[in-house]
Amino acid sequence: MTKRLCLLGIILMAVNAAGAADKLTAFEPTQEWPDNNGVHINAHGGGVLFHDGVYYWFGEHKIGGRRGNTAQVGVHCYSSTDLYNWKDAGVALTVSNDPNSEIVSGSIIERPKVVYNAKTEKFVMWFHLELRGQDYTAARTAVAVSDTVTGPYTYLRSFRPNAGKHPINVTERDLRPSRENYFQRDIERGQMARDMTVFVDDDGKAYHIAAAEENVTLHVSLLTDDYLDFTGTFSRVLVRRSREAPAVLKRNGKYYLLSSGCTGWAPNAAEYAVADNIFGPYETKGSPCVGYNPDTEMGAELTFGGQSTFLLPVEGKKDAFIGMFDAWRPNNPIDGRYIWLPVEFKDDGKMVIQYRQRWDLSVFD
Ligand code: DGJ
Repeated sequence: MTKRLCLLGIILMAVNAAGAADKLTAFEPTQEWPDNNGVHINAHGGGVLFHDGVYYWFGEHKIGGRRGNTAQVGVHCYSSTDLYNWKDAGVALTVSNDPNSEIVSGSIIERPKVVYNAKTEKFVMWFHLELRGQDYTAARTAVAVSDTVTGPYTYLRSFRPNAGKHPINVTERDLRPSRENYFQRDIERGQMARDMTVFVDDDGKAYHIAAAEENVTLHVSLLTDDYLDFTGTFSRVLVRRSREAPAVLKRNGKYYLLSSGCTGWAPNAAEYAVADNIFGPYETKGSPCVGYNPDTEMGAELTFGGQSTFLLPVEGKKDAFIGMFDAWRPNNPIDGRYIWLPVEFKDDGKMVIQYRQRWDLSVFD
């Protein structure tokens, strides 16, 4: 008996040393988050797709040092069945070595979001792309596709969307040329598309939501049925409010659009807005954040040191969403942290995101 116990102890120690035995049972925002290999998860500015009983987290693969703010590897994917423990599923979209490729290493690939198209049975990845050596001036959206969820994804193209189109809520003022009318300036060339997300509605229609017009106004654009292109139907929302990092959820028929202000990598106040129609109009409600993050020493007014990236529906639980935020570390981006917090709703529909140092999914019960 003693011998057997001893053997069991040795086996357990060996498994522990391999980093595989410690199952996580809670979220610990801002801390390092080890994957199945014990390596801090590398999926920044990410989003999550639930498919066939498994969650897939896609995000920017960062490397160390300032160079890590450009794409040197690509888009990384992780899988999980419980949302706490994530298995490294490899690089889903790889940067190219070809200097003529739009996704050559050194370009900027941000905020990748993957959706599944049930009609075509393809996985479609959209992301914000900046061309190498052009800083953030290209402001393009880009699309890649795969037959399998973890990839490899085939890069298709990038572009400035909605060229030559007017939004469904166009006003006379929108078309009046002026030095600050970036929408009017870009009609011919196509609209800028920086921070973005993709939202698939209950009816299967998908929308691309991006910071446009020098980050001054967000554009909500309907994608084609195969999710691979823009239809040309779009609206301008949160006009001149300078919001970025958009994330969307739908609850009780209402669309909640969470976003940040525009202060580069530095945190600022989150804000949410609510609409009956995804195209708006949106009513701004202020910050949903409450509390204080002792690790960053930042409170609700700075979103606890984080910036929104995705609102993740928890499967099998009604009205249960996780707010996903990035705590960027631009001097060493690979060490950027994740702040995942439960999204709660008051009876009047008010959204609340309270900071917690440790929590688990039972908060939704
Ligand atoms: C803020 C954006 O939200 C990030 O995705 C990134 O583009 C940084 N700006 C770059 O400064």
